[in-house]
Amino acid sequence: MALTPPPHDDTLHHHFGATSATSATHSTPTHTPLSTHSSLSAHTPSTTHSPLSSRTPAPATHTPLHAADISRTLETISSSGTAGREFEFTPVDFERIRKMLYQNAGIALSPAKQDMVYSRLAKRLRATGKKTFAQYLQHVEQDRGEWEIFINSLTTNLTSFFRESHHFDILAEQLKSIKEKRPLKIWCCAASTGEEPYSLAITACEAFASLTPPVQILATDIDTAVLATGEKGNYRKDRVDRMNPDYLNRYFTHKSADGSYTVRPELRRMITFRRINLLSPAWPVQGPLDAIFCRNVMIYFDKPTQYGILKRFVPLMRPEARLYAGHSESFLHASDLLRSLGRTVYVRLDSPLH
Ligand SMILES: C[S@@+](CC[C@H](N)C(=O)[O-])C[C@H]1O[C@@H](n2cnc3c(N)ncnc32)[C@H](O)[C@@H]1O
Repeated sequence: MALTPPPHDDTLHHHFGATSATSATHSTPTHTPLSTHSSLSAHTPSTTHSPLSSRTPAPATHTPLHAADISRTLETISSSGTAGREFEFTPVDFERIRKMLYQNAGIALSPAKQDMVYSRLAKRLRATGKKTFAQYLQHVEQDRGEWEIFINSLTTNLTSFFRESHHFDILAEQLKSIKEKRPLKIWCCAASTGEEPYSLAITACEAFASLTPPVQILATDIDTAVLATGEKGNYRKDRVDRMNPDYLNRYFTHKSADGSYTVRPELRRMITFRRINLLSPAWPVQGPLDAIFCRNVMIYFDKPTQYGILKRFVPLMRPEARLYAGHSESFLHASDLLRSLGRTVYVRLDSPLH
């Protein structure tokens, strides 16, 4: 059974390199003072979002359940694990999907995820007109486009602006402490829908009191759909609700028609969005980096996979670089590579920092 994806045409040039708009901007750093914000022309987003109200489900009406209905439902559930399912979904299908995802994206699915996998992929069987999971998975292995959708369907992209906010305070101090006049490089390697890299960009603008700080951010993810959302930089009101209102005023334009917010073009220009699979043997990333944000993604990988990735991070990091991890991620199993500074921030073993 083939578990390798069909050939891909990803270009392998190095980001943070001369090809990125970001480096062009920062080769001669020009610091625009923050006070110019109000004079910036309004940015017209290229996409529109459907109004929030159209997504709001109708209020639930509670009809009392009759005992007969309940016992009939229970009977159906116990008579078959796939009761009520449109497509048969066998343990063999699940195992095949698990292997495909693990070998190519490093994601280790637990058996508890079977229902999630079924519901996400049943949509794809319907869309592609396949009658069984076996037919669909064969199609995935032969079609690059479907392979991408398959991976996109199975990733978990939960994120928010200034998630685990203490990391942004630490980063601000770090950026302010760098006295050399050079572009500062941050890699955000599981960027999801863009909230994290834009939070990094805002932090950099605040640290330098400038809309064009000397900071370049590479925002990558395996999932092309979330990267497309990040590139647009357009967010529904509920996504930005809890953000500091000053930041919302300074760094976003408000679209009153649908209530959404769009990041200002200056933030957008600080960030290069690219697809990078952390499991790929080659990462088109040019070091040395000042910071790596690798948060809430290692949790999906097993320890050997985590270790392999961390080992490849180290040579990309400056001696003073920080590696920021998610709140429930610990890299103590890689103590021969990294040292903890506390609060899920790590440095290279040979770092002068304590
Ligand atoms: C839960 S989100 C975390 C987002 C953000 N870092 C945060 O902490 O809010 C995990 C992200 O990791 C991405 N991901 C999963 N496997 C990956 C891989 N092998 N390479 C790169 N990104 C991956 C997913 O697509 C998803 O967007």
